[in-house]
Amino acid sequence: MEKVKANKKLYIKTYGCQMNVYDSDNMRDLMATIGYQQTDEISEANMVIINTCHIREKATEKLYSDLGRVRKVKNKFEEKSDDKMIVAVAGCVSQAEGKEIFRRSQIVDIIVGPESYQTLPDLVGRILRGQGKQIDLDFKPNNKFDLLQESRSSSEISNFVSIQEGCDKFCTFCVVPYTRGAEFSRKVQDIYSEALKHAQNGTKEIYLLGQNVNAYHGLDENGESSNLAKLIDKISEIPEIERIRYTTSHPRDMDDELILCHGQNQKLMPFLHLPVQSGSNNILQKMNRKHTRQDYFKIIEKLRQKRPDIGLSSDFIVGFPGETDQDFEDTLDLIEKIKFTACYSFKYSSRPGTVAADAKIQVAEDIKSKRLKILQDLLNQQQIEFNQSFEGVEMPILFDKKGKEKSQIMGKSPWLQSVILEDFDEKYFGQTINVKIIKARPNSLIAKTI
Ligand code: 5AD
Ligand code: SF4
Repeated sequence: MEKVKANKKLYIKTYGCQMNVYDSDNMRDLMATIGYQQTDEISEANMVIINTCHIREKATEKLYSDLGRVRKVKNKFEEKSDDKMIVAVAGCVSQAEGKEIFRRSQIVDIIVGPESYQTLPDLVGRILRGQGKQIDLDFKPNNKFDLLQESRSSSEISNFVSIQEGCDKFCTFCVVPYTRGAEFSRKVQDIYSEALKHAQNGTKEIYLLGQNVNAYHGLDENGESSNLAKLIDKISEIPEIERIRYTTSHPRDMDDELILCHGQNQKLMPFLHLPVQSGSNNILQKMNRKHTRQDYFKIIEKLRQKRPDIGLSSDFIVGFPGETDQDFEDTLDLIEKIKFTACYSFKYSSRPGTVAADAKIQVAEDIKSKRLKILQDLLNQQQIEFNQSFEGVEMPILFDKKGKEKSQIMGKSPWLQSVILEDFDEKYFGQTINVKIIKARPNSLIAKTI
């Protein structure tokens, strides 16, 4: 295969979840192998990638309005340059819309999906050789990870590693099983090698990613099926890795071994994002969630037995088709009983192609808005109380970012709170340091050195 080696610029815009952030990083690394360096300035880019998310409403409209803006920049760029600006659309909207994107936007040269973007360098080569518009939407996660192995090269203090992709659960509201395809787990050894490479580049925290991360069942070195608990234990053998987290989990796959791991593995942070979506059994059944509210309570009880200080977060959907006042009350009741530390909540939005999209009894928009407000007020209150409980407390913070002010440095607490330290010192970067929390804010904590 002929590869273009060029000194070119690449601009990437990323929407959606951490998985998309991970994919964008991979696309950046892949394109670097053929001479494209990332830029924050779209006006100087020889190539633009829009990495889309399809999970909730208006994703498609957002893409076309973005493409409208890109068209203007592209025209200007091509007026003053001999080169063409290549435009690629990646991510879940690509997978869902396919060729329709070429039809609706003339400027798009390449369409790739979340399980096929590894072919981007080839596709760019073809564009440059004048072979016309390119599309690749095949599901080939195996081949994706094999190719990525070579190029991945990040040096972040906290780094993502994808361990599992796709989903076989088919919740009736969700597009993921259609856009990301069937569940696929990477091999233990491949994940370990990627984590090790990051550790050698200065990474201290590994974030294991997957749409259904705790359904992980990749093969180990003996060719036997592993699980998430074993994988976490294996990664924690890397001395430089101080912290391990994982997301996103499904209650159905929260097995006893993983719960025990939360009690025993000191590198596994005391925080879990475990989406429940609703507190009503009636709605959970309609959502095809495969768990009840009682199952959820049981899991949390077991987790708190093993790790009493564990912080919990969740996703909620209000206004799912058929949700009554009582169903909504059940959700509030679950929140009051569990007490979450930080959550995401959404109004139900119909996604074409999903089972719930055809439901006859949709909840009115104004009721959805009212319910969302009540739910978010309650969740915010819990988050504030959780943060306030740390005032005056000492805790270890992994510092990884500059703050907004020059004098500040930012990091994460074990419970994933953002912590701001006023007395900035360059040497704190990448270090875990014990600090004292002096003030709690709704979305962050203020700290001072001890
Ligand atoms: N409407 C609203 N929220 C949704 N989510 C997924 N699909 C929909 C939808 N159709 C939410 C779920 C999921 C999170 C990533 O997005 O809460 O956990
Ligand atoms: Fe979507 Fe449900 Fe799969 Fe999560 S478990 S990705 S919500 S279908």
